[in-house]
Formats: sequence, C-alpha cells, structure tokens
Amino acid sequence: MAETIQVTNPATGEVIKEIQADSKEEIKQKLENGHKFFKEWSNVNAHKRARLLQKWSQKVRQHKDELAELITKENGKPLKEAQGEVLYSCAYIDWFAEEAKRIYGRTIPTHMESKRLIVTKEPVGLVAAITPWNFPAAMMARKAAPALAAGCTFIVKPASETPLSGMRFIELAHEAGIPEDAVQYVNGRGSVVGDLFTSSEYVRKITFTGSTPVGKSLIRNSAETVKHVTMELGGHAPLIVAEDADIDLAVEQTISTKFRNSGQTCVCANRIIVHESIADEFADKLAEATNKLKTGNGFEEGTDIGPIINEQGFEKIKEHIEDAVEKGAEVAAGQEYDSDKEKGYFFVKPTVLKNVTPEMTIMHEETFGPVAPITSFQSIEEAVEIANSTPYGLAAYFFTNDYRTGTFLHENLKFGILGWNDGGPSAAHAPFGGMKESGLGREGGLEGIEPYLETKYLSIGGY
Ligand code: SIN
Repeated sequence: MAETIQVTNPATGEVIKEIQADSKEEIKQKLENGHKFFKEWSNVNAHKRARLLQKWSQKVRQHKDELAELITKENGKPLKEAQGEVLYSCAYIDWFAEEAKRIYGRTIPTHMESKRLIVTKEPVGLVAAITPWNFPAAMMARKAAPALAAGCTFIVKPASETPLSGMRFIELAHEAGIPEDAVQYVNGRGSVVGDLFTSSEYVRKITFTGSTPVGKSLIRNSAETVKHVTMELGGHAPLIVAEDADIDLAVEQTISTKFRNSGQTCVCANRIIVHESIADEFADKLAEATNKLKTGNGFEEGTDIGPIINEQGFEKIKEHIEDAVEKGAEVAAGQEYDSDKEKGYFFVKPTVLKNVTPEMTIMHEETFGPVAPITSFQSIEEAVEIANSTPYGLAAYFFTNDYRTGTFLHENLKFGILGWNDGGPSAAHAPFGGMKESGLGREGGLEGIEPYLETKYLSIGGY
C-alpha cells in the first residue's frame, strides 16, 4: 500500500487533500530520469533555457490567484502575503532567466608562449532540493530557477505540510515547455527522501532550506559522494535600535520583519536590542502597533497574522513566552492563544515582551513565531556582543541615522544579510544566505547561480 500524506489547512485543521507518497523505487527512477536527461538539457542553449524560464514565470503570473489561494490554504499565511510570495517567486525565475545568458568563462594570460589557458563553466548535474513549508513556492523557485538556468536538471521534495503549491508550480513549468525530466518533484517522508537523495550517485548537488540539525545531517550524508551543498538554515536575527534612531520607522519595520508569515520566517527579528534610553518608548509604540494586528484565517479580509503551522511549532512558541514570563519578562502585548488540538489549529496573538534578559530561552533559540522579545543595551559595543552571541548568522537589522554607528555595525555584525533602517532586505537580485551555523552558499543575486556550476580549467600546450 502506498503511503498517503494528508495536507491540512492549519487555520481550521481540515484535510485539503490526500496525496500519495512516492515509493523508494519511484524516487530512484525519477533520480535516474533526471540524471539521464541532464545531457540533453545541458545542451539546450542558454538563450533557449532563458526563454523557457521566462514562459514559466508568465504562466505563474497568469495563475497568481490560484497559487496564492493554494499557499494560504496549506500554509495559512494571509492571502496578501501569499500573493506577494507568488510574485517573489517570479522575481527569482525572471532573474535567473537573465543570468542563464551571463555564465561566463575567461582566458588567463599565459606564463609560456607555447600555452593557452582557458576557464569554462558547466552545470554540476542533477540537483536535488528539499524545500520548507514557510515559503513553499518562493524557496522552491529560488533553487529550481538557477539550477535550470545553469543547465542542471532538478528534482524537489516539497515539505509534507505544504506540497500542493510546489507541485502546481512544477506542473506550470511543464506547461511552459520545460521538459518533464528536467524538473520533477517527489513526495515522501523527509528522512527517507533525504537519504535517497544524499546516497544517490546521480545527484551532484543537494540544496536545502530548513533547520540547522537537518542541514548538518544532509551535509554529513552528502560527504560520502562529495556532493555540492547549499544550505539555508536557522536564524536568530537581532534587531538593534540605536539611541539616535527614528523610533517610528524602527517600530514600523520591526512589525514587518517580526510578524511576516506569523513570525515563521528564517530572517524574522528574534531579539530586539534597544538602547536603554529609548527602550520604554520603543516598547510602548511597538505594543500599540502590535495590538492593531488582526489574527485569524488568512482568507479573511484584513488578517495580518495567520495560524502556526502545527502543534509542535505552537508548543515551542508557548514555551518560549512562558519561560520568559516566569523569569521576569513583562507582557506588553499578546500572550493569548486560540487553539484546538482535536481539530488541529493553533493561533498565537502577536506578543511583545519587555525586560527580556540573557538567561531566557527566547534569547538563545529561534522561536519561529509571532513573539517580539525586547532587551536593552548601554553601549553599541555591548549591542554587537549580544547580537553576535549566537551560533547563527543569517540576518541582522539595525536602526540608526548616525553613519559612524551604522558603519561600525556593518563591519562588526557577523551575519550574511544586514538591513540598515530596513526590515525587508530580501530581493531576487541580492544574495541571501547565512554565516556560521545558518548555512553555506548564497541564493539570489550574482552569487545565486555559481553554486550550480563547475569550473573547468583547460591548459593548451605545444602551440
Ligand atoms: C526564509 O524564511 O527562509 C525566506 C525569507 C525570505 O526569502 O525573505
């Protein structure tokens, strides 16, 4: 009997669809198909690959409403955020369609008259991706598009919580004319598919977005066949508000970075570090703005905060809030829940915590939920020390109008993505990725296609 996967709506607990998991044999077959088709796809010229990607992006735009509804249904995020995610996905496809035409090699000035030295780039081969439930379309697009643009074939396992939008995206790629064996999906349990991907001799690259522990195990398992890896892992983003900052701007941007996708975003601000002279004013204003946010079903008009993806996520958020409160944090907004284990839905009202101190769990672990913990600092050096005291290094934000403070923070924060007076730095044309245990490699920007390419060096002698 084939295993089935129930996809549920996290806002209601209702089953949206049951899909069949691929068997091990089916997954192996698809890997073999992707490997075999690599030769043909990598020989399609770059301009044709670019045109096919452009057609895919057009198809996605034509189906924007359908795809956004699917995302809201299976992930729960507000419909307007889901629509934004569809367009964000297109931005990656459009960007990499253009990048396909800019995969350049080079010649190296020779050290001997009889020699010529040439460097060329070629696609790595079959790429296997594992994508998360928090941005089921965008995280898939930003892996599939550079892989296909580079001339790699691609296979993805979407998150079992949210497979439907990714599957529909890939069907649209086929409708746009991208051959079926060039871009495929499989469904199944993460550990089973992960093991098949990492142990397969056909797969030359693993790309993953998700938790740091799973990322580490994929890296370990990929070592056996020395595969390329790109890892977008956990984050624990600090957001620093300096003494001179524009407080209203900092509050507005904190709301947008902290509560995007109900706080279930790797680059969400997780530790809000405010100069002691303005900490109360900032907290009051943040609490006031937070109290205006509407929590509910993502399909309801005006919803800002959707459900938490599942019970495990909900329990972790609750634990973080309760641990902080027990250890002395003050609740400035939220700490209210609406959940039904039987039915299977879990909501957390956006929460602001004041007077948060280093011994609280929330200062060390990624909450992945709508909770804004505020702590204070005296000197900018201390703010940097607090911000960097984590094994993660994905995103960091800072608010200051003093160029010296801004420059100091730019140079001293150990994070791959920085937002200076900006809570939304992500863009298809900019590199996204983390330092330390937040990952390896970058997605998007000029950097985003390189991890899908091999460098080949040719030395011609006897000339
Ligand atoms: C993520 O949570 O990993 C993605 C967020 C983004 O692309 O901005």
